[in-house]
Amino acid sequence: MNNGLDDVVAAETVMSDVDGLAGRLIIRGYSLDDLAGSRSYEEVIGLLLAGFFEDLPPERELAARLGVARAEIFETLVPFAAALHRLPVTDALRAAMARLADGEDLATALRLIAAPAVLVPAFIRLRQGEPAVAPRPANGHAADILRMLHGAPAAPEATKALDTYLVTVSDHGLNASTFTARVVASTHAGLVSSILAALGALKGPLHGGAPGPVLDMLDGIGAPGEAEAWLEATLDKGERLMGFGHRIYRVRDPRAEALKGSVRALAAGGQQTAGRLVLAESVEAAATCILARRKPDRPLQINVEFYTALLLEALGFPRESFTGVFAMGRVAGWIGHSREQALYGRLIRPQSRYVGPRPDQAA
Ligand code: ACO
Repeated sequence: MNNGLDDVVAAETVMSDVDGLAGRLIIRGYSLDDLAGSRSYEEVIGLLLAGFFEDLPPERELAARLGVARAEIFETLVPFAAALHRLPVTDALRAAMARLADGEDLATALRLIAAPAVLVPAFIRLRQGEPAVAPRPANGHAADILRMLHGAPAAPEATKALDTYLVTVSDHGLNASTFTARVVASTHAGLVSSILAALGALKGPLHGGAPGPVLDMLDGIGAPGEAEAWLEATLDKGERLMGFGHRIYRVRDPRAEALKGSVRALAAGGQQTAGRLVLAESVEAAATCILARRKPDRPLQINVEFYTALLLEALGFPRESFTGVFAMGRVAGWIGHSREQALYGRLIRPQSRYVGPRPDQAA
C-alpha cells in the first residue's frame, strides 16, 4: 500500500516533466526557463492543447477566440456573480463555473480558460462594492484580466508579470489537481466536470491554497530581524511553513526562480513591493537554514507559492483570490491532461486494502 502514491507512475503524458532532483520543469518540450517571460500565455495554451482538438487554430486566431470566450462568459455567468460574491472567491468561482454545459470540444475548453479570468476579477470587484468590468476581446489575456480587475489598463510591466505567472503555473506533471482532472476525464464525464473537480483539489492549503497564508506569515513576522524567532516558534508549535517543501522537488522549485525575477522587476517600480521583497528574502534565508537543521533528511526549500504571494499582491489581487488566480493559469494544463486521458487513457480505478471488521468479527 502506498499512502499518498509517492513514486507511483499513473499516466504517460506529453504535457510536462517535473525533474525533482535536477529542479527542472519541461512543458511540451520546452524548459520553463525558456518559456517564462518569453512566450505569452496564449502561445502556451496553444502548446498545451496541441494534438487534443482537431480544430485548434493557429496562435493569433486562438487568442482572438479566447477573447470572444471571455466576452461570452461575462454575458452568461457574471449576471449570476452578484448572488455568489459573498462566498469565498474559490467557492464562488466553482459555483459559477458549474453552470457551464459539459462537453469535449474546443469551444468548451476556451470557455473554461476564460471563466476564471473573467469571474475572479468580477468577484473581487463585487466584494469591494464596485461593478464588474466587461472584457475587451481584442486585448491580450493577461492585460484584459488586469483591466477587468482595476477598471483601467495596467502598466506593461504588470501585464508582463501576470503573463509570466500564468505561463509558469500552466502545467506541472501529475500534481493533485491534475490527477483529479484525469480521474474524472477517465470516466468520459466531460471537460467541465474534470475542471470543477480539479478546482476543488487546488483549493486546499497543501496544494494551491498556500500563497494567501504565505502573506499571513510575512505579516506575522513583520520585519527581517524577527524572522528567526517567529519561524522557530511556529515550528515548535508543530506547524508547517507555508510556501516551503514539495513532494517532488528536492532542490529549489524552478518556478520560484521565474517568479522571483518577476517580483524583482515589479519591485524596481514600487516601494511597497521592494519592502516586501527584502522581508521575503530574509524569511527565505532564515527558514531554509532552520528547516535544514531541523529536518536534515528532507530538503525543504521554497516552492512556487512563496513568490506567487508577493507577485499577486504587487499586482493588486487580494489574498483571498490567489487560488482563483492560480486556476486562471493551471486550467490550460488541466484541459490538456483531461483530453489526453479521455483520448488515450483507461478508466482510473485503483484498489484499496480493507482494514475494517469482517462479518464474522462485526458486533
Ligand atoms: N514546513 C515544515 N515542515 C515541513 C514542511 C513545511 N512546509 N513540509 C514538509 N515538512 C516536513 C513534514 O513535517 C515531515 O516531517 P516528519 O517526517 O518529521 O513528519 C517531512 O517534512 C515530510 O513531509 P511530508 O508531509 O511527507 O511531505 P509531502 O511531500 O507530503 O508534502 C507539501 C509536500 C504538502 C507541499 C508540504 O511540504 C507542505 O505542507 N508545505 C506547506 C504547504 C505548501 O507550501 N503548499 C504548496 C505546495 S506547492 C503546490 O502545490 C502548488
